[in-house]
Amino acid sequence: MYRSHTNGELRIENINNEVTLAGWIQKTRELGAMTFADLRDRYGITQLVFGEELLQVAKELGREDVVQVKGKVIERESKNKKIPTGEIEIEVTELTVLNKSKTPPFTIEDETDGGEELRMQYRYLDLRRKPLQDALKLRHRLSIEVRKYLDSIDFFEIETPYLIKSTPEGARDFVVPSRMNPTQFYALPQSPQTFKQLLMVSGYDRYYQIVRCFRDEDLRADRQPEFTQIDCEMAFVDQEDVLNTFEGMVTHLFKTVKNIELTDFPRMDYAQAMEQYGSDKPDIRFGMTFNYINEVAQNKGFQIFDDAESVIAIVAEDCSTYTRKELDKLVDFVKRPQVGAKGLIYAKYNEDGTFKSSVDKFYNQDDLKAWADKCGAKPGDLILVLSGDKATTQNQMNTLRLHLGDELGLRNPNEYAPLWVYDFPLLEWDEDTARYHAMHHPFTSPKKEDMHLLDTKPGEVRANAYDLVLNGTEIGGGSIRIHDKETQALMFKHLGFTEEEAKAQFGFLMNAFEYGAPPHGGIALGFDRLCALFGGQETIRDFIAFPKNNSGRDVMIDSPSAISDEQLDELNIDIKAVEAQ
Ligand code: AMO
Repeated sequence: MYRSHTNGELRIENINNEVTLAGWIQKTRELGAMTFADLRDRYGITQLVFGEELLQVAKELGREDVVQVKGKVIERESKNKKIPTGEIEIEVTELTVLNKSKTPPFTIEDETDGGEELRMQYRYLDLRRKPLQDALKLRHRLSIEVRKYLDSIDFFEIETPYLIKSTPEGARDFVVPSRMNPTQFYALPQSPQTFKQLLMVSGYDRYYQIVRCFRDEDLRADRQPEFTQIDCEMAFVDQEDVLNTFEGMVTHLFKTVKNIELTDFPRMDYAQAMEQYGSDKPDIRFGMTFNYINEVAQNKGFQIFDDAESVIAIVAEDCSTYTRKELDKLVDFVKRPQVGAKGLIYAKYNEDGTFKSSVDKFYNQDDLKAWADKCGAKPGDLILVLSGDKATTQNQMNTLRLHLGDELGLRNPNEYAPLWVYDFPLLEWDEDTARYHAMHHPFTSPKKEDMHLLDTKPGEVRANAYDLVLNGTEIGGGSIRIHDKETQALMFKHLGFTEEEAKAQFGFLMNAFEYGAPPHGGIALGFDRLCALFGGQETIRDFIAFPKNNSGRDVMIDSPSAISDEQLDELNIDIKAVEAQ
């Protein structure tokens, strides 16, 4: 028996127990004739105390050595209230070093001195740290509760293949060469979209899978090239059924994992989200919604507003006392290339009811009062205005709004505001390829009442598509699908596929639709993002045991990497020819 207890287990009630513990030495310290050591495993830390007879061996212990100790639980003289085992320590009578460790390249404690890249390289050591263990524990808990919930309402967990052919989710595919089929490639799934739809045709009317997906796209804090979805599909459902089912799941997760009762689960259509927040994933933990003030701001001689399609204002409550310096900082913020505004106009609504604006030359006190009334601003508030073409200005104002939300502490990570956004546009114009693309994916159904616009105003057709947003992050997306061959063929046509191309890529799905495909729809939730949000973090990296760095590399195993000439030959890949090109 290696251990009788874990290092997080022993309490004052265990005094005088003879125990055996095992774990890693976190640190040692000498105090007179005694040596103390912290013994760590994933359950916690227990203090060891070595007396005279073990002093010499104890002194030789190094950080991260793996040891086994036998001894008696005794009460500590100076108690540590911060840890659950802080009232006791082990008076060690026997010490066995199970394995010596090299000195680790960074400290393995809650706060570490190791830089990001170094910790990625020694990820197995970083994973010993409590914050990462807590993150993976949270991930585990969430996956268990997802399974419990979905199982309780008759969902089947079914695995779908990883070696498939390209699925069009809008990103690039990772491809895998096939030895047995020279010059041909599999693609790793960007999602199991077509397979889950085929499962509906097969009659498995409630499917789910916690599944790895692969997308060759640029990385950000909330994006990894391989990530995990909670992927679901249901047959004989309409949008309302899907939303209710997954509202139920999210509510269940909050209740069971965080003991939070979600009381409010609002819904907002895409048009409203864009109009009020300039974003299809609004953070509704705070207000500061958009006001369109064209009516009161134009035709007063201020050319920039007069020429603009939209003049949009937001109100920062109680910020009329912002100093010149603070305002300049906001102006600099919106002028950064990432935001791209030409400038920012402000009007302070002073406590005494007067106004001070950056455009006093054009607007008198009555004019500015009209702005304030239009925006619902009160004395003490600050009005911030951007203008230009509507879509660009909405986008810029969204960035400014979120920035102010951060600055003013309105985005509390411990507050959770879920939101469904629905009625997304079906198609999106892509400047680069000069054609429409499916905004969600090509299997999403158009709204019946908008079908007549498909030929004339394709950009105005709405889809039966919805996103689940949590605190301004897109957690999930889904849709009610097309389930008949004719509509699917029509959709491919509108996406610029010839009949042959559609057949070559998706013939299998269209064929399946001819054999009794039920009406169906579903959703996929980004599991890593969900974990990060539950953990109060913005980046998903720490919720994945072995993530990639910003260049898509695993610096620990050094991947991607070259393969041998033999492997290349076997796969019929002439890399020299590629290099020569
Ligand atoms: P979608 O492309 O919206 O839908 O993806 C679903 C959710 O997956 C998460 N996600 C990511 N998370 C981390 N890294 C990434 N690179 C990444 N890309 C996406 C997001 C997103 O909301 N087949 C459809 C679902 C459906 O229609 O049922 C799909 O994949 O949280």
